[in-house]
Amino acid sequence: MENKLREIRERVLQNIEDARASGNLEQIRVGILGKKGELTGLLRGMGKLPPEERPRMGQLVNDVRAALEARLEERAAELREKEKQARLEAEAIDVTLPGPERSAGTLHPMNIALRKMVEIFVGMGYEAVEGPEVEFDHYNFELLNIPKNHPARDAQDTFYIDDNIVLRTHTSPVQARIMTTRKPPIRVICPGRVYRADEADATHSPVFHQMEGLVIDENITMGDLKGTLDEFARQMFGEGIRTRFRPSFFPFTEPSAEVDLTCANCRGEGCRMCKGTGWIEVLGAGMVNPRVLEMCGIDSTKYSGFAFGMGVERMALLKYNIPNLRYLYENDLRFLTQYR
Ligand code: DAH
Repeated sequence: MENKLREIRERVLQNIEDARASGNLEQIRVGILGKKGELTGLLRGMGKLPPEERPRMGQLVNDVRAALEARLEERAAELREKEKQARLEAEAIDVTLPGPERSAGTLHPMNIALRKMVEIFVGMGYEAVEGPEVEFDHYNFELLNIPKNHPARDAQDTFYIDDNIVLRTHTSPVQARIMTTRKPPIRVICPGRVYRADEADATHSPVFHQMEGLVIDENITMGDLKGTLDEFARQMFGEGIRTRFRPSFFPFTEPSAEVDLTCANCRGEGCRMCKGTGWIEVLGAGMVNPRVLEMCGIDSTKYSGFAFGMGVERMALLKYNIPNLRYLYENDLRFLTQYR
């Protein structure tokens, strides 16, 4: 029995050394120390030994068991540690790898132009105000001296919501809203979206943006308007860009002007963009019609003012030399992200 014990001890210790996974050790333990284990079997067989040998043999079996248990535990700890290391290695994260690229958005070129325009006028002391896009006929037309059946209404291609409500066809109604609610001095710009029943083409879209300007105070003259727009042109397009006023007509201004800028492409030399004239038409302007002042509750004998309205998309096309309005609406990112 002693030999048997020695043999078991050597064999099992070897098995423990050979084990490659902590799970195998459990099988070994059950096979030798479990209820039906080899060593347990030996202990049970002790009854057959002569009584005087039992204590010594019992001691021997217990020694073997203790030795095996101790080694099993050690080896299990070793293997668990190895397995842990292997797992950590497999799960290791390389913090030096580049992260997923998240591209930052860019402003739409129309918005870049609009922000620049607002910035220039705010720099000159203007306040930016907004009005509703769904507007009363009263503000969009009546207070601007465009009564019902006035021919100027035809030119506007208006989207009517009902008899009294329209999608605003220009930002000028915001002027009327400001004049009816504030006292001079007034100095505001009114940027925003406007609507006209136009077919979309290289220069038209049923939805576009305008920026209105309005100044009302004592002794405001056409010279103030001209100086203001000259300074705007210089800041927006650079030195050497000037304005040219041509007589025109708007019901809400008297006198009225259409304003051209030096062609930024050829600097006035004459090119394809300006059709050889050296000038590009960009906005409408004029002295606020005294009739409009009076309808809006402002004393036209004491106050005068100027107003102007410009297309924002048009400014963006000019600033970035974009040949077709449609590029601004197609929203092809390869195009849009060129502008910052
Ligand atoms: N509201 C005009 C338009 O759409 C533009 C305009 C012209 C605005 C003259 C003005 C102005 O304030 O004085 O087309």
